[in-house]
Amino acid sequence: MTAPVMTADALERHYQVGGGFLRKTQTLKAVAGLDFQLHPGKTLAVVGESGCGKSTLARMVTMIEEPTAGSLTLDGKQVRPEDWADLRQHVQIVFQDPYGSLNPRQQIGTILQEPLVINRKDMSKKQREEKAREMLRLVGLRPEHYDRYPHMFSGGQRQRIAVARALMLDPKVLVLDEPVSALDLSIQSAILNLLVDLQEKMQLAYLFISHDLSVVRHVADDVIVMYLGRAVEKGPKDEVFENPRHPYTAALLSATPRADPEGGKERIKLQGELPSPLAIPEGCPFAPRCWKVQDVCRKERPVLEGAPHPAACYFPVDE
Ligand SMILES: Nc1ncnc2c1ncn2[C@@H]1O[C@H](COP(=O)(O)OP(=O)(O)OP(=O)(O)O)[C@@H](O)[C@H]1O
Ligand SMILES: [Mg+2]
Repeated sequence: MTAPVMTADALERHYQVGGGFLRKTQTLKAVAGLDFQLHPGKTLAVVGESGCGKSTLARMVTMIEEPTAGSLTLDGKQVRPEDWADLRQHVQIVFQDPYGSLNPRQQIGTILQEPLVINRKDMSKKQREEKAREMLRLVGLRPEHYDRYPHMFSGGQRQRIAVARALMLDPKVLVLDEPVSALDLSIQSAILNLLVDLQEKMQLAYLFISHDLSVVRHVADDVIVMYLGRAVEKGPKDEVFENPRHPYTAALLSATPRADPEGGKERIKLQGELPSPLAIPEGCPFAPRCWKVQDVCRKERPVLEGAPHPAACYFPVDE
């Protein structure tokens, strides 16, 4: 395999929350001890329930927020906040809601050129315009869309515009934070196919964040399953989907509708609620909801390890 374009090493992000009159602030560990690599032309998907730390991870990778601990490297060089301004153009992001991130008063051509105006002083106006028109074509929009405003587009088209803008600076890494979750099912696959095409053409490394396993199945090469800020399982997509090892992964998968009805595994119903991230249980964070739980699970946190791919569990479902 090619050298990784980005590496995360024991990445953490804590927030101080609460406080106020006679109350102490508490530390919320939104992301803890996360390791991964992103490779050109490959997609790493991060899945997990709401609040497990996916967007927090996205903000660290895109240099919006500094990690509390751990490190990120880009092309083998450590990412330091003093270098953010130079490095950010290599790591771009697409959000769930393109409407919120597109300026309603700007024409699409202007929106697309903006990153160039800021970062590419060497380009002439004509070059910028050409690049914007070319990008419009690449994401499957038409030349006449260049002069239109965001409200004149459908949700799927707006997401194409957001993707186009994110690619204007030829980034190496594209972070996609729930990029199709706000779209109709019928449009989702068109956008996913576009992303797959663009990745192949430009050899982009994707960090694809989603709570939806059927979407992840469509696009991922590798998968990290997160629970309360930590990776509980990690591996090649096919392995994780065919042979989930962590009970949490198995439960998530059993709740995901599949194309082939005979795959009809029984749905695993999780007990209880997701614990508060301010009161993460000692031991395995999933223990209170796990049907395989034993004493040891409540006492000591299992490490992410084992074969054929690592899972943080004392009693993996495949054993
Ligand atoms: N700026 C912040 N200050 C305090 N707590 C925060 C902050 N940002 C996120 N959190 C907390 O960190 C945890 C992870 O949040 P995050 O938004 O990363 O989750 P997520 O996996 O993206 O969820 P969703 O699927 O709902 O988008 C949550 O408990 C959230 O409340
Ligand atoms: Mg989020």
